[in-house]
Amino acid sequence: MTKNIYELNTRYDDKFLEPQWDHKVVNYDLEKFPWTERILSVVQEIRPHCDKLEYLHEHFGRTEIVPLRKKIEKYVRSKEFSQWIDEYFDSIIGDSLGEYLIQATPTLNFVLPDQQRQGSLLTFHTGHLTAYNNGMYTIWTPLSPVYGSNSMQIVSWEESKKITFYMLRDKLSLAEIQRRCEKKSSPVEIEFGETRPGQAWLFNQGHWHGNINNTTGISRVSLDCRAMTKGTDYGFRNPGSYFRFRGTVVDLPQGIETSRRWIVFNDPAASEYMGTMPFYIARTFIENYADKLGINPVGWHNEYTFTDWNPHLEFFINDTEVQGIVLLSFHGLSSSINRRMELFELCMDKDIHVLFCDENFLLDSREGLDYIRKCLEF
Ligand SMILES: [Fe+2]
Repeated sequence: MTKNIYELNTRYDDKFLEPQWDHKVVNYDLEKFPWTERILSVVQEIRPHCDKLEYLHEHFGRTEIVPLRKKIEKYVRSKEFSQWIDEYFDSIIGDSLGEYLIQATPTLNFVLPDQQRQGSLLTFHTGHLTAYNNGMYTIWTPLSPVYGSNSMQIVSWEESKKITFYMLRDKLSLAEIQRRCEKKSSPVEIEFGETRPGQAWLFNQGHWHGNINNTTGISRVSLDCRAMTKGTDYGFRNPGSYFRFRGTVVDLPQGIETSRRWIVFNDPAASEYMGTMPFYIARTFIENYADKLGINPVGWHNEYTFTDWNPHLEFFINDTEVQGIVLLSFHGLSSSINRRMELFELCMDKDIHVLFCDENFLLDSREGLDYIRKCLEF
């Protein structure tokens, strides 16, 4: 715990607070980026009579929101939408962050009236507490009128530091954190009239933010998406899966040759990635993924624990006639980056396709090797 307290508090070093990302509203070109209309068009595929996002709660039951969100998330990670996001980020960030990756599936938030009682309240939190780190930056874009209790509530950097310090020291309950944050926060106010400018709001991962009960009577919908700069200690949020390179998409791969002889292979020795997750949980995930793509594997295998050179995986590449291997992730192998690349190259020499579930990536040609190395070394 002391280590956790130390690490969290050091993340609040003021050198991580770039002024551009300290709770700032910026303008963008609404004609070029008509986000509301784009998202509304997906909503209307389900409910054609829903003519404004703020009336969402009149057209959808509470249990219909999660399926709606999933449908929209499919759309926002499409090639078309990802290209718009690339241009949008470019227009707001420019060259200010150097090289950066973009969140592959932007997050959609639906804040319906009286959501606390309904169990869908987004409680106060910081990026640090939800597996984001300094070096990651959030652009939050409202798609419907945003004011008062339907808006995001934000705490200043200085007050955020204090709340985090006392939270850890006194092991505060979430009810108490909500209370303290509510007292110190104010709603993000963004213009949303007929002749409004396009406005987005920028913040970093140390600010406490969250929602209170929405008593405005209308729904709020917003889109948030993150950039991650090169060299960031990314933890759970891997390049090639959670974050994508500009100009790419992370979505189900096409052109899988299902008639090949595929095996499922899991590497529990990759302890940093896997923790101590029971083997069958990871394996079931890989199998379900393969099943979704129409692959019928001939068997499954695990890497040997206490190894870090993938001897078992190498055996299947060299000494069997498998034609395809489904792996959990190229980040989730126990061997070094160079050794992994050597094994993947071997697969290409032997015309063995490799499918990576976490990255939705099919390695079926040498060009793919460069992409994998780029992700592993970001
Ligand atoms: Fe958040």
